Amino acid sequence: MSQGPFRLELLARQDRSAFDCGAPELNAYFHQRVNQDVKRHYAACFVAIHKDDNGIAGYYTLSMSSVQLPDLPDAVAKKLPRYPQVPVARLGRLAVDLRYQGQQLGGALLADAVYRTARSEIAAYAIVVDAKDSQATAFYEHFGFVKLARSPRTLFLPLSAAIKKLGNK
Ligand SMILES: CC(C)(COP(=O)(O)OP(=O)(O)OC[C@H]1O[C@@H](n2cnc3c(N)ncnc32)[C@H](O)[C@@H]1OP(=O)(O)O)[C@@H](O)C(=O)NCCC(=O)NCCS
Repeated sequence: MSQGPFRLELLARQDRSAFDCGAPELNAYFHQRVNQDVKRHYAACFVAIHKDDNGIAGYYTLSMSSVQLPDLPDAVAKKLPRYPQVPVARLGRLAVDLRYQGQQLGGALLADAVYRTARSEIAAYAIVVDAKDSQATAFYEHFGFVKLARSPRTLFLPLSAAIKKLGNK
């Protein structure tokens, strides 16, 4: 996602203080806690930088994770090996600054997370996302994500399906 007005970088020493996505908990996490998660290797954080002013326009976090096989939709689960856990990448948080919402940046960040996971040497069958509310849930459903049976705020999409859906982002 280096085309257009944004470039993508790993979070380092960029100034995070002005970032405002309109969701207080996602702002607070980004301002106060994300560095600790990165230092402890609990999450990697990627930021979209606007090329004109070098401000942070969006961010997402990505970690290795797993989901329980019985939580997946039956149609998916029945085609998978009978291991109790399914390996996934977890998009823990994703947010776009209010100034840039509605300009396809959220979708581009989601696509970046999907392709980054697909390129990794560490296998993941799917990507899961944690949606903070019904609007966020609707955003992920727009891209084909499906709610997990026992935790409907967590949504799931096999990587192969995600690549098809996000191929043109
Ligand atoms: C949700 C969020 C990340 C979306 O980012 P964005 O840059 O505004 O979204 P985009 O412009 O990339 O939208 C991509 C597509 O998703 C659709 N979309 C965006 N928000 C949507 C929503 N809440 N419900 C359904 N579809 C949505 C757009 O219409 C667009 O459709 P298209 O591909 O057919 O053109 C952003 O609004 C945000 O940061 N909100 C606050 C934090 C948040 O809720 N994060 C979610 C993770 S917990």
